[in-house]
Amino acid sequence: MSLDHTAPNDLSAFWMPFTSNRQFKKNPRMFVSADGMFYKTADGRDVLDGTAGLWCCNAGHNQPKIVEAIQKQAGELDYAPAFQMGHPKAFELATRLCDMAPAPFEHAFFTNSGSESVETALKIALAYHRARGEGTRTRLIGRERGYHGVNFGGISVGGIVNNRKYFGTLLNGVDHLPHTHLPDQNAFVKGQPEHGAYLAEELERIAALHGPETIAAVIVEPMAGSTGVLMPPKGYLERLREICTKHGILLIFDEVITGFGRLGSSFAAEHFGVMPDLITCAKGLTNGVIPMGAVLATSDIHDAFMQGPEHMIELFHGYTYSGNPIASAAGLATLDTYREQALFERAAELAPYWEEGLHSLRGLPHVIDIRNMGLIGAVELEPIAGEPTKRAFQAFLDCYDKGVLIRTTGDIIAMSPPLIIEKSHIDQLFGTLATVLKGLD
Ligand SMILES: Cc1ncc(COP(=O)(O)O)c(C=O)c1O
Repeated sequence: MSLDHTAPNDLSAFWMPFTSNRQFKKNPRMFVSADGMFYKTADGRDVLDGTAGLWCCNAGHNQPKIVEAIQKQAGELDYAPAFQMGHPKAFELATRLCDMAPAPFEHAFFTNSGSESVETALKIALAYHRARGEGTRTRLIGRERGYHGVNFGGISVGGIVNNRKYFGTLLNGVDHLPHTHLPDQNAFVKGQPEHGAYLAEELERIAALHGPETIAAVIVEPMAGSTGVLMPPKGYLERLREICTKHGILLIFDEVITGFGRLGSSFAAEHFGVMPDLITCAKGLTNGVIPMGAVLATSDIHDAFMQGPEHMIELFHGYTYSGNPIASAAGLATLDTYREQALFERAAELAPYWEEGLHSLRGLPHVIDIRNMGLIGAVELEPIAGEPTKRAFQAFLDCYDKGVLIRTTGDIIAMSPPLIIEKSHIDQLFGTLATVLKGLD
């Protein structure tokens, strides 16, 4: 099948993820190449990447250093067993990643996706307490509207109903904090909202209900992305940190979206000045080019496992492709690219221009809220009565027709461009969206 062949029968074999398969296959949207800020469609149109793929191509597309590193690595060492064997680039990448991360993070465990990073972090948290003789700590606390990938641990601590309700009873012993979205008080706020730090106190209530000594970890996205871009209220993350520390509960930041410059710093932990005990990441680690994720751990956590006879495996966990050579090469080239092109700094510099352009959409038809931070923005639309998600999905289709890629979740439009974006692209993105919003039913 050629890539531009769109006959429906040829498309039926691929059951597409998180896609309205029937709608797509009637009118497919195919990308066939990408360079810099733009995709090229099968029918030869340029489409501005307003979403960095799926929040992952932070350095834009077709970065020469990354392409070259992958090609070279494939011819040099294509695969090495991940268990009881090593290869130099995985060690180098772990060191480089920890150097880039805030100070307490000194160890990296490699995975292949954000979902696997989440499962890994939850398992490390449980096993850590057990290794220290606190095996009563088996509960995991997530948050309403949280997104932590699609595996069973992640959907159990996650808080998006459609990702949970079809899949049985999920993990036992999970509870949820309330989400932090307070539209009545915080609508159209730029950056972090003032109201809502008190919602962190719910952790005290949950700890009192279950007994703090039964809780292993709390996992939150420092800024909730996939649920529609929800900012942490001022003081909220700080208060979560305090309560976790008080009760000996590990705090996990799921930084699968917020890592690698999205907010203008390496990680959100650095941006907010709040240090968790574990960080999950993926996506931007390899610029989305090759699947790879990681869990970053403090020495305190890592060292708790380094006991017992030396020939024994310390953590019974890992993947065939943990630290895969080609992924490691891609990761190293990606970190080089971020540094050499100063992309995190660039994101911080452009953030005010981004914020201004985004908030200029206020007052357009159906817009009920706008939220932003770093190079992330969301525009929330009033849903069509009785047909939730339809209006935003129409905006997505119309933007695509006009050469701009946005993303929608529910009736929220989310945008997170590659950090190489120019001001002219920002103008194009918000200009196109404004035109589309004005034309929506
Ligand atoms: C915060 C967060 N965690 C986990 C994931 C899952 O990552 P993946 O799709 O690579 O499994 C995502 C994906 O968007 C995410 O945003």
